[in-house]
Amino acid sequence: MGATIIDGKAFAETVRGKVADEVGRLKRGHGITPGLAVVLVGEDPASQVYVRNKGRQTAEAGMQSFEHKLPVDTPQADLLALIDRLNDDPAVHGILVQLPLPDHIDSDLVLNAISPAKDVDGFHILNVGLLGTGQKSMVPCTPLGCLMMLRDQLGDLSGLNAVVVGRSNIVGKPMAQLLLGDSCTVTIAHSRTRDLPEVCRGADILVAAVGRPAMIPGDWVKPGATVIDVGINRVPAPEKGEGKTRLVGDVDFDGAAQVAGAITPVPGGVGPMTIACLLANTVTACCRANGLPEPEGLTA
Ligand code: GUN
Repeated sequence: MGATIIDGKAFAETVRGKVADEVGRLKRGHGITPGLAVVLVGEDPASQVYVRNKGRQTAEAGMQSFEHKLPVDTPQADLLALIDRLNDDPAVHGILVQLPLPDHIDSDLVLNAISPAKDVDGFHILNVGLLGTGQKSMVPCTPLGCLMMLRDQLGDLSGLNAVVVGRSNIVGKPMAQLLLGDSCTVTIAHSRTRDLPEVCRGADILVAAVGRPAMIPGDWVKPGATVIDVGINRVPAPEKGEGKTRLVGDVDFDGAAQVAGAITPVPGGVGPMTIACLLANTVTACCRANGLPEPEGLTA
């Protein structure tokens, strides 16, 4: 194994430390406590775990955490009314509506009802447009975390070939925009891409965000490349005992680590960075709302 293992857990701790410092400054210097509201509709077990972790880490960073748990059959109009109240609440600087939403709710409509200034997920169409045109925006948390790790690992990204496998609105597309903003030559690849192995082999930076366990083998990785694995896939692990499971990424870690220059593990890579960046975005939103300078190193 030759690759440097990028420790996302340690990196996330550093980001959370910076966030906590900034929260302290806002409280002491300005009497402002950043507040994050998280809205969960229904009882999806994975979403419940995320929301619990978000609430805990928000409080640990010294911020106010507001949790709104709504029944799975909540009418869309009630959810929109809650978002209106949160938009108007001066104690709330960031609003996150946990996805996926139940089928009877129009996710795009709901996400676009969040005030763009409080849209700490960066999913509002205005923020998507601002990011796409290189203007100051709220940046989606997972791609922001990936960008921070890449800059930390590689320094200047300018001129590097970056391949993003996956074209989701949450990761693939904003990731590509961020890499373009850092002057990479960017390819977005997906399930219909012709000769995906060869496309991947051209990547100095390979970001995998498809949600298919270990679909990228080591021989698709360019020697020395930096590999960012966004996938979190639960697979059976009979070696751990009957009915046991484990988490794997979209990249075959053991194979890729023989070839890559640096690689993020799963778990312990990109995952911990997502919530750290959510906290960072909440502080950023709070500073902007109050006309205060934004903290260094917590935005794109
Ligand atoms: N569900 C899975 N990932 C995310 C995310 O980044 N934001 C929201 N709101 N929901 C999610």
